[in-house]
Amino acid sequence: MKILVTGGAGFIGSHVTDRYTAAGHQVVVVDNLTTGKMENLNPKARFYQSDIRDQGMEEIFAREQPEVVNHHAAQIDVRKSVQDPVFDASVNILGMLNLLEKAVRHGVSRFIFASSGGATYGDQPENAGPASEEIPLQPISPYGVAKATGELYLHYYKVGHGLDYVALRYGNVYGPRQDPFGEAGVVAIFTEKLIADGQPIINGDGLQTRDYVYAEDVAEANLLALHSKASGSFNIGTGVEKNVNELFWCLLQIMEKSAQEVHGPAKPGEQRRSVLDCTRAQTGLGWKAKVSFEEGLRRTVEYFKKNHRRVRRERCA
Ligand SMILES: NC(=O)c1ccc[n+]([C@@H]2O[C@H](COP(=O)([O-])OP(=O)(O)OC[C@H]3O[C@@H](n4cnc5c(N)ncnc54)[C@H](O)[C@@H]3O)[C@@H](O)[C@H]2O)c1
Repeated sequence: MKILVTGGAGFIGSHVTDRYTAAGHQVVVVDNLTTGKMENLNPKARFYQSDIRDQGMEEIFAREQPEVVNHHAAQIDVRKSVQDPVFDASVNILGMLNLLEKAVRHGVSRFIFASSGGATYGDQPENAGPASEEIPLQPISPYGVAKATGELYLHYYKVGHGLDYVALRYGNVYGPRQDPFGEAGVVAIFTEKLIADGQPIINGDGLQTRDYVYAEDVAEANLLALHSKASGSFNIGTGVEKNVNELFWCLLQIMEKSAQEVHGPAKPGEQRRSVLDCTRAQTGLGWKAKVSFEEGLRRTVEYFKKNHRRVRRERCA
C-alpha cells in the first residue's frame, strides 16, 4: 500500500512511518521540519519538505497517488494555540482541509487522523471513570477545538465524498525521539533533565493526571487502522491514570537517582484530569496497549541515555 504520512519527521509520525515500512508498505513523508528532524526520517521513505497548507501539495498528490493519507503534521503546542489561535487554526484546520480536498480529488480511500483524547474531551470531572468516545467534546483550548473540528470535517468528507476515515484520539504519547526541550512532553523533559543531573520542576501540585501511552503502541494502532473495516473515532490510551508526581518518582527509581520534588507555579488553564476508555479500539481495531507505564519509561530512559550527547549538541547548535 502507498501511504502519505504528514509529520513523518516528527516524534509520533516517524514511529508510524517505521511501523508502516517494516510492514512492507511504501511511505511518502511530507513535513516542513518546523519541529520535525531529518534524523527521525526512515531512510526507506520518500521525503518532501513542504507545508501542508501549500498549494504545492497538489503536485505531490498528483505525482505520488497515495491510497491512504495518515495525517500527523500539526501545530502541537497547546499554550501557543491559546496565544495565537489564528495560526493554530491555519495549520490544524486549514492545513487539514487542504489535505482532505487533495485526498478526494486524487482518489485516496482512507484518511487516518492523529486526534487527541486529552484535548478534545476537556477536563474530566473528579471521580468520573475513563472517558469513552460517547462523552461530549468540550475542548478548553484552541488546539482542542481544532482537533474536534478536524473530526467533524472527516465526518463530512465521509458522508459527502465517501472518504473513509479513522480518527485516533491519543492520550499523552511518550517514548524515544520526543522533543525534551519543548513545552509539552513531560516524560522527555524530565528524563533529559535528570540525565543531565538537573532538577525537573513539577508544575503546580503535580496531581494533574494523564493517560500515558507508549509511541510503539500508538504506531501499532496506526497500522491496524490501515486495514480495519471500522470507521470513526477511537481512544488510544491505556485506561491508567498517572499524576506528574508519580511519573517523577518512577523515573527516579528507574534511573536509580535521588532528588526531591520541586514544585513551580501551576500553568494557568492546564487540564486537571485525562484518562481514556479504550474498549472501542479493542473491539473495532483489535488494538490494546501492550507496553506498561514502567516498561515504557524504562525504554525511554534507555533511549535518552544513549542519545544524550547528540540531543544536547542539537540543542546548542
Ligand atoms: N504527543 C502527544 O502526546 C499527542 C497527543 C495527541 C495528539 N497528538 C498529535 O499527534 C501528531 C504528532 O505529534 P508529535 O507529538 O509527534 O509532534 P511533532 O511536533 O514531533 O510532530 C509534528 C510534525 O509536523 C510537522 N509540521 C508542523 N507543521 C507543519 C506544516 N504546516 N506542514 C508540514 N509539516 C508540519 C513538524 O515539523 C513535525 O515533524 C500531531 O497531530 C499532534 O497533535 C500528539
